Amino acid sequence: MKALVAYYSETGNTKKVAEAIAGAIHFDKELKKVQDVENTSGYDIIFCGFPVQAHSVPKEAIKFIAKVPAGQKIAFFSTHGSLRGGLLPKQAFEHALGLAAKQTVLGNFGCRGMVAEKIIDMLMKSPQHQAWAQEAGSAMNHPDANDISDAKSFAAQMIAKISA
Ligand SMILES: Cc1cc2nc3c(=O)[nH]c(=O)nc-3n(C[C@H](O)[C@H](O)[C@H](O)COP(=O)(O)O)c2cc1C
Repeated sequence: MKALVAYYSETGNTKKVAEAIAGAIHFDKELKKVQDVENTSGYDIIFCGFPVQAHSVPKEAIKFIAKVPAGQKIAFFSTHGSLRGGLLPKQAFEHALGLAAKQTVLGNFGCRGMVAEKIIDMLMKSPQHQAWAQEAGSAMNHPDANDISDAKSFAAQMIAKISA
């Protein structure tokens, strides 16, 4: 079996989760930035990770998803400043699901990722960002040890799905 863990990360939060997921895969695997992936064929599973940006998926991840072959098994993960399990990050996953209509989506995982205070202050001034930026103040120290442990469990669940 062969896995690809592809991620986009600007400040390192999603990268940390990607590394945890790759660490939980005990067969042939590659860990790459989405921008560095040339060929998306030949994998039994692709994990695709991104930071939620403006309630949605960053363009680098959108480009990557478009390159994934039809029928390919894909699992999404993301980090976000807003509260885990809330409506705000859910919107981004729904967007990712829409982008992956021709692939087989196995599941998704999200956890919080810290945002620099300066950036929160700046984004709070913009109506488009206010809702999540308000929640993001308490995301300091994330992803934390619990998030990393949950990400590993998610990876194991996704692998169990393709091994069944
Ligand atoms: C420009 C910008 C827009 C963002 N938009 C959202 C958002 O809509 N919802 C949210 O929950 N977090 C949002 N965030 C917070 C990031 O998703 C979060 O900090 C993430 O962990 C960053 O991941 P990275 O370090 O891998 O880049 C935004 C951050 C920035 C800088």
